Amino acid sequence: AQSPDEAAPQTLDQAAAQAASCTRCDLCHTASRTVWGEGDPAAALMIVGEAPGDHEDLQGRPFIGPAGQLLRRELAGAGLDAGRAWLTNAVKHFKFTPRGKRRLHQNPDRAEIRHCRWWLDLERDLLRPRLTVALGATAAFALTDDASALTPRRGRIETALDGGPVLVTWHPSLILRLEAGRAGQARAELAADLALAARMLA
Ligand code: URA
Repeated sequence: AQSPDEAAPQTLDQAAAQAASCTRCDLCHTASRTVWGEGDPAAALMIVGEAPGDHEDLQGRPFIGPAGQLLRRELAGAGLDAGRAWLTNAVKHFKFTPRGKRRLHQNPDRAEIRHCRWWLDLERDLLRPRLTVALGATAAFALTDDASALTPRRGRIETALDGGPVLVTWHPSLILRLEAGRAGQARAELAADLALAARMLA
C-alpha cells in the first residue's frame, strides 16, 4: 500500500500502479497479482464484483472468466456498453484454497473486504460514478457496510458510504451455480436490474 513517501494517486492509472504492490492484507502473498478495475475512466457506471477469480488472477483483468462472460452478455442485452463502464471488484486479490491442481475460489472475509475498501474508496473518488451496480453480497457490503441478506435488497437502490446510489443485484457466479429453474429466474432478475441501470443513466 502507500508508504509515507508515496504521493496520493491523482489518476486511476496512478492508483493501479500503487495497488500493484499492495500488502494491506495477506491475500497478496498467494495471489498472482492485483487485479485493478478497467474500463472508461470517465464512466458514469461503476460495476463492482466480489474479487478476481482464477482466470482474472492469471490474466490480470476483471470479469474475463465464466461469470464475467455472463455479466458482459447481460450488460450488452441491457444496452450497456462494458467498455464505457468501469468494472472492478471489492477485493483486488484472488482468494483460494489449493485442491490438487485446482484453485478453489473462497469468499473474502469482512476484514479483507474492509482492508481493500481503501482502494475501492480511492477508485470511487477518482471515478465519481453516477451509478454503481453491486454484484452480490460482498460488493454490497463493501459499498454500504450492510452485511444483511441480499434477497430483500436485490433490485433496490441503496446509498453507498460515500453517498452515491448503489443498485444491488445478483452476482453472475450465483446464477452459474443455481439449478436451471432458479438460475433462469435469477438471470431474468439480473437482466431487469441492468435494464433499470440503463434507464437511470439514459
Ligand atoms: N467474479 C468477480 O466478482 N469478479 C471478477 O472479476 C470475476 C469473477
